[in-house]
Amino acid sequence: MTVHIGAKQGDIAETVLLPGDPYRARWAAETFLDDARLVNEVRGMLGFTGTWKGHPVTIHGTGMGMPSLSIYVNELIRDYGARTLIRIGSCGGMQDHVGIRDIVVAMSCTSISTPSRGILRELQYAPTANWPLLRAAVLAAERRDRPVHVGNIYSSDVFYDERPDLNEQMERHGVLAVEMEAAELYTLAARHKARALAVLTVSDHLKTGEALPSDKRERSFGEMVEISLEAAFA
Ligand code: ADE
Repeated sequence: MTVHIGAKQGDIAETVLLPGDPYRARWAAETFLDDARLVNEVRGMLGFTGTWKGHPVTIHGTGMGMPSLSIYVNELIRDYGARTLIRIGSCGGMQDHVGIRDIVVAMSCTSISTPSRGILRELQYAPTANWPLLRAAVLAAERRDRPVHVGNIYSSDVFYDERPDLNEQMERHGVLAVEMEAAELYTLAARHKARALAVLTVSDHLKTGEALPSDKRERSFGEMVEISLEAAFA
């Protein structure tokens, strides 16, 4: 047990999918894993372990934002030995060619601040996805014949961001989409020699104001789970 995870040693698989929402973790485990069992429920942050095609897999919530993700990912890697960590979540589109429901696979992450800033200090560190995972996820997404974008995303620490011009600068510099977790996931994975990736679906668009209706969200979420599992065991 750790401060935030009640699982016993051996209860967490080396491969962990990380949705932000703990109820999504439950849905994904019940839908895609065999013999899924609850391994954590401390503070309502649910984690499940089961198997996919015979491979042990844990699906664990992270909460929203990098400080929350940092707690779970630190404990999953350092205390439970997680080695492959894939965030599955939503993002806001920032480019005209990135449409609602498209898939975004984050090659790299831009940020203003992350929980690792205290260590990195003045370094303009570039959090980067694990290449074999990234390649496998893109191939898995392409097999579905769905639009997939690969590139730089923005990991924000403010959802209701009122900073002027920020989104324009992101757009000018080719940033595909905004979310709130991946930069710290990639940084922690790099620091602890683990593999990380973020597979995202565009749930809303910052330029058009469009948003994915809730009945379509589950289907998109399921696709991300399948893409991530295929990538993890490619
Ligand atoms: N996740 C999904 N949409 C988002 C947005 N617009 N900003 C930050 N995170 C998001």
